[in-house]
Amino acid sequence: MLKFIIRIAKVLFFISAFCIPKLNGQIYKNPNTNIEDRITDLMDKMTLEEKIGQMCQFVAPAHIEKTKSRLKGEELIYNDQWGTYPGLNAVKLNEKIKKGEIGSFLHVKNVVEANELQKIAQKSRLGIPLLIGIDAIHGHGMVKGTTIFPTQIGLSSTWDDQLIYEVAKATAKEVRATGMHWTFSPNVEVARDPRWGRVGETFGEDPMLVGRMGQAFTKGYQGNFSDENVIACAKHFIAGGEPYNGTNASPIDVSERQLREIWLPPFKKQIEAGVFTFMASHNEINGVPAHANKFLLNDILKNEWKFDGFVVSDWMDIERIHKLHKLTSDKKESVLKSVNSGMGMHMHGPGFMKPLLELVEEGLVPVKKIDDACMSILKAKFLLGLFENPFVDQSKTKSILFNEGHKELALNAARKSIVLLKNNGILPLNNPKKILITGPNANNHRILGDWTFKQPDANVQTVYQGFQKVFDESNVDFINSGESLLYPDDTKLEGTISKAEGYDAIIVVLGSNSLRFQRKEKTCGENVDRSQINLLGNQLRLVQELYKINNNIVVVMVNGRPLSEPWITENIPGIIEAWEPGSFAGQAIAEIVKGEINPSGKLTITFPHHSGQIPMVYNQKPSSFFRKYIDAPSAPMWHFGYGLSYSEFQYSNPYITKLADGFMIEIEIENKSSIEGDEITQLYIRDEVSSVTRPLKELIDYKRITLKGGEKKIIPFEFSIEDLAFYNVDMQKVVESGDFLVSIGSSSREEDLIQIEFNIDKNFNYD
Ligand code: BGC
Repeated sequence: MLKFIIRIAKVLFFISAFCIPKLNGQIYKNPNTNIEDRITDLMDKMTLEEKIGQMCQFVAPAHIEKTKSRLKGEELIYNDQWGTYPGLNAVKLNEKIKKGEIGSFLHVKNVVEANELQKIAQKSRLGIPLLIGIDAIHGHGMVKGTTIFPTQIGLSSTWDDQLIYEVAKATAKEVRATGMHWTFSPNVEVARDPRWGRVGETFGEDPMLVGRMGQAFTKGYQGNFSDENVIACAKHFIAGGEPYNGTNASPIDVSERQLREIWLPPFKKQIEAGVFTFMASHNEINGVPAHANKFLLNDILKNEWKFDGFVVSDWMDIERIHKLHKLTSDKKESVLKSVNSGMGMHMHGPGFMKPLLELVEEGLVPVKKIDDACMSILKAKFLLGLFENPFVDQSKTKSILFNEGHKELALNAARKSIVLLKNNGILPLNNPKKILITGPNANNHRILGDWTFKQPDANVQTVYQGFQKVFDESNVDFINSGESLLYPDDTKLEGTISKAEGYDAIIVVLGSNSLRFQRKEKTCGENVDRSQINLLGNQLRLVQELYKINNNIVVVMVNGRPLSEPWITENIPGIIEAWEPGSFAGQAIAEIVKGEINPSGKLTITFPHHSGQIPMVYNQKPSSFFRKYIDAPSAPMWHFGYGLSYSEFQYSNPYITKLADGFMIEIEIENKSSIEGDEITQLYIRDEVSSVTRPLKELIDYKRITLKGGEKKIIPFEFSIEDLAFYNVDMQKVVESGDFLVSIGSSSREEDLIQIEFNIDKNFNYD
């Protein structure tokens, strides 16, 4: 036996010895070599054209074929959804892949196309696989038949980092199962203006929370770069969440203080989590478009933060440096500025390779810039195992998309994301005999939100269908009151009113439409911004007319950004903010209405009463609303951190203990009701006196806890002294000695908080 083993070992040694010389010239193809050596070997073999080719991303051939009739060349500059390249068709694109002129694709349709593209890439001189990117923002929604989770603003309302991590993990699995490797997520912009259509893509208005939840996404996506993981992309760098007029991509002027206190921290957190890529933002910052912003892309990202991944441009934004911003006189100069600032990949199409090649040859762009970007892109491909296997087994894809585990997760996430805003005793609905479901969002796919394409009807549960499932179906009626928010149909509204009598309760489902496949009907989402935050169309009238017939109304909001209607807040006894809860929205909403699920979500963004109050955020400065409006309240409609439960939680006995490098706060929370529920406990601090003004409150930690009926728990929070730091007049990161106020409770609203003070007896400098 021993002899036999030795003989086998000799044979194996012989085979491997024989193979090594064969691989000697092809170290990059040898999976047993370390990644750095593989990259060096491959870089040595690449021409400058091939290196720049890696920096070029195109939309996929099938997408071009589908859209080429829709767009003329110039229209590309304004379009955000469809891409086409005049003069380029699928055949020509394939030629480019074979020549090594394309390193990446986006908007690939499905696994079949992904595999086909990789097959072509294998025929290129060096056989470098393609890196395929997609906007898998809240599930892999741009591909048909996938699991759609609540949009980011809904996910953030769960205040459940672990759940958010699981959602990212499941999303990554579905993305990989379709032959894609890179998601343009997380969006870690801080949303400070509800008029902005992209609020739903964010985790809300608090920098700490956004950074922390972004990390959960980044870690969930990237894992250990196995074949079930994808690389993540922290976007959009930076400050697009407070556009000066509310419209996407409009200019931002920020002080370095605001940049460092609000906008940069969530991105820095992604660096700490190892995020592989960054995407620059559409907007200009202090007069310089993000895509040509050396201060941001080079000085901060590369030099200060030591980011060694790569930056991808956003859709047509290098082109817009010249065409829109007029910072340069032509495309070539835009490429020059962008690449020299730190841009590593051009998102979308031709017109990048040729000028960049010339610029390098002319000595205007250092070769090192190209090498750095190319090496990082190759690293992603090696890490993800694409050189070993760029293909996906198509026979397995179906079993991974929308599988039972992912469905369960989507339902659970939806349940936790929904926020109960008002309950004058109407909820949960107590054994209603007859329920009417109506309103423009009651029976359609708007619950899916932005960044999804049409999903099979069988995979989506509308609100009406959810009620049919959860309640006795024969007790639930639906009346179509008209679905269009922009072109309302008053006949349908009147028809609804005429049939609305005789119900125990009416559920009116209102809100907005973020569906990108209903482009002309969209009222929210990317590039769909508003000047107001009220309800569009005849929605308010619908509720008011129904209220004349029946006061037992629950308004369910399905929307991607805060919407405010003071009349509804004052009059309607039950209001639910459902956001856009995804594939299982209907069931989750109905279960909450019925009381089978105890609502637990809390807002992560402030709801003003009117757009005129904007900016209105919880972490405002002391003087923000010192003077009052004469025509509107100076407080929010709904506060950051706010949300009701069917349980009743009581906070008491805060206790503070000094630790070696920080503090521990313990707080007693009691569930005074008999109903088990989840509470989201929030910890805010305030620096009482400081050398520059500080916000009235800053969230420094939160915990989601479960309490049985009657149960009491002591919840500990720990924070370090550095958590209290801010930038002084000299922009040094410091903690100044003095008194601090800690507020703990169920929302940022004063009456929901109890307080305790502590003191720091010396100064700290963290620079
Ligand atoms: C958006 C990005 C997105 C990209 C690719 C752009 O319009 O701003 O967030 O990743 O399109 O779809």
